[in-house]
Amino acid sequence: MFIKNLILKNYRNYEYQEFNFCNGVNILTGDNAQGKTNCAEAIFYLCTGYSPRATRDKQVIKYGQDSAKIIGTATSSYGNVEVELSFYNNANKGIKINGVPIKKIGELMGNINSVFFNPGELKLIQESPEDRRRFMDISLSQMSKRYFYALQKYRKVLEQRNDLLKSNDKQTIYDTLSFWDEQLAVYAETIIKERLLFIEKLVPLAKKAHSYITGNSEEISISLEAQYLDEEDEFLQSPTSHLEKDVKKCLLLALTKRIEKDIALGYTSVGPHRDDIKIKINNEDVRLYGSQGQQRTSALSLKLAELEVFKNRFNEYPVLILDDAFSELDKSRRSRLLSYVDGVQTIITCTDVTEDMLTSSNIKVFNIKNGKIEE
Ligand SMILES: Nc1ncnc2c1ncn2[C@@H]1O[C@H](COP(=O)(O)OP(=O)(O)O)[C@@H](O)[C@H]1O
Ligand SMILES: [Mg+2]
Repeated sequence: MFIKNLILKNYRNYEYQEFNFCNGVNILTGDNAQGKTNCAEAIFYLCTGYSPRATRDKQVIKYGQDSAKIIGTATSSYGNVEVELSFYNNANKGIKINGVPIKKIGELMGNINSVFFNPGELKLIQESPEDRRRFMDISLSQMSKRYFYALQKYRKVLEQRNDLLKSNDKQTIYDTLSFWDEQLAVYAETIIKERLLFIEKLVPLAKKAHSYITGNSEEISISLEAQYLDEEDEFLQSPTSHLEKDVKKCLLLALTKRIEKDIALGYTSVGPHRDDIKIKINNEDVRLYGSQGQQRTSALSLKLAELEVFKNRFNEYPVLILDDAFSELDKSRRSRLLSYVDGVQTIITCTDVTEDMLTSSNIKVFNIKNGKIEE
């Protein structure tokens, strides 16, 4: 899959610009604050309906304007697709696919797929479990509408369950909690199973990518942390792998065990909204013991593995966006990364283009200055 054409209208610092990308490596280069990341952001927006910068929709409208547009045309084995996002100062954003307006973001997901990486993704390693769940959620939502809708519904039910837990009427809590638990567990089951499968597929691919990028010097391991899946172990002869478990039953058991605690806390203390991913390098928790460089490479390996999961699922690669990823890598990791992504449409932003980046024959360089491509 690759994006052929992108048009930005009053988007961030772009007034009007069209990009004709090649299906290989596309380098957006230029000084700081010229619009390189803005363009990378727009591509991810087209794919997911969200900004990787986690800003509010309206913030992308060029200062002083009242609307903005991103229009992109992509080609995949299914043919061409045109996606159009419109942002308004005084209304919600509009989405069109092949000219037809859609109402739900879920219908946008999966039309154009992408994997986004920038130095901010270090938070994937360093920061809270929320960032690692976000990684799974964004990736899985692009791959599976079922996951995306289950996640939306899970969040709604969770909110209602939490509201109930905060109520002062204990009798009502005891009378109605099991109703919410049952619903919660239904959506949770979809989420947890998909996450387990995702991690299972991700592990060998991340190992491969990581040892490739590090020249075989490091080994990465990854697992999903969801303690409630071990709840029923005490009833089992020999504990089974998470994927073989009755996930729904495990969660219901865990919820029941924690009723008193959850009432005291006023929120639900167990479930997929608390899951985490544990990442180790050479058997040490990379979050606690990894160097900055190891953490950076781990985050990159996760993203490269994600790329392969997409490839295995859809039989074609998504678009890879590497925002400012090159400045942070040494020369040998850089060239290994470039040869790794051979055959994948890649959008690279960087301030300096060095010789070693220009080895591919399928390459296009865009000089970006003040929201324009400079000829
Ligand atoms: N809504 C907006 N309207 C106009 N300019 C914006 C808007 N949002 C961001 N910018 C400008 O975009 C520039 C940053 O662009 P960015 O793509 O992040 O730079 P870089 O080329 O370093 O990646 C800044 O100068 C910022 O002021
Ligand atoms: Mg930038």
